[in-house]
Amino acid sequence: PPAPVLTIDGPSGSGKGTISRLVAEHLGWRLLDSGALYRAVGYAAGAAGLDLSDAEAVTRCAESTRIHFRAAPNDGETRVIVNGHDATDELRTETAGAAASAIASIPSVRKALVDLQLSFRKAPGLVADGRDMGTVIFPDAPFKVFLTASAAERAKRRYKQLKEKGLSVTLASLQSEIEARDTRDASRAVAPLKPAADALLVDTTGMGIEDVVAKVLAVVKP
Ligand code: C5P
Repeated sequence: PPAPVLTIDGPSGSGKGTISRLVAEHLGWRLLDSGALYRAVGYAAGAAGLDLSDAEAVTRCAESTRIHFRAAPNDGETRVIVNGHDATDELRTETAGAAASAIASIPSVRKALVDLQLSFRKAPGLVADGRDMGTVIFPDAPFKVFLTASAAERAKRRYKQLKEKGLSVTLASLQSEIEARDTRDASRAVAPLKPAADALLVDTTGMGIEDVVAKVLAVVKP
């Protein structure tokens, strides 16, 4: 039988990234940060001087961009290597998030990233973090969660995260950027941000990380 998958979808700032990492560590499963793939393609397209709305050119870029993850020593942040260059720092900004969201609305770009995502499914299991993990990429996943939080709380979390990483941002501009990105992600024709019918919805507003981890882990049964 195929290896089990736990899909964790939701909007930006819902806590997906942190929760997915902790849950994967707890289970000893692999982790797929699918957002990093879209960020990497957006970044590579930008670096190549492409117009992000040029579907054909960006699709060729998605098909030819080499993306891999490298575990950092001493529990450090996983590095994202794009065409041989460590682009981790460039990929975290909200500008990179917006570029990712722009190219992610192109169906042929999404298609170009399918096989790479499926290849992460290996024993003993996979935690897949994204927008369409439970709906499109792993529809047969036995375990599905959709995380949400109020817009204000999501903006606050992202703000804290970016600040800690030394980026200069304002809360107000971040909130409006995140809202614009989520609206685009939820309203696109292909693989829109929405919970799978069989996903457990968890509103993390006001919840601590440990409580969310416990709730998500409870979904995973042997
Ligand atoms: O999760 P993250 O903020 O890194 O994702 C960046 C963007 O990539 C999202 O706003 C979304 O447009 C796109 N994305 C997607 N499908 C996924 C993961 C991310 O369309 N599975």
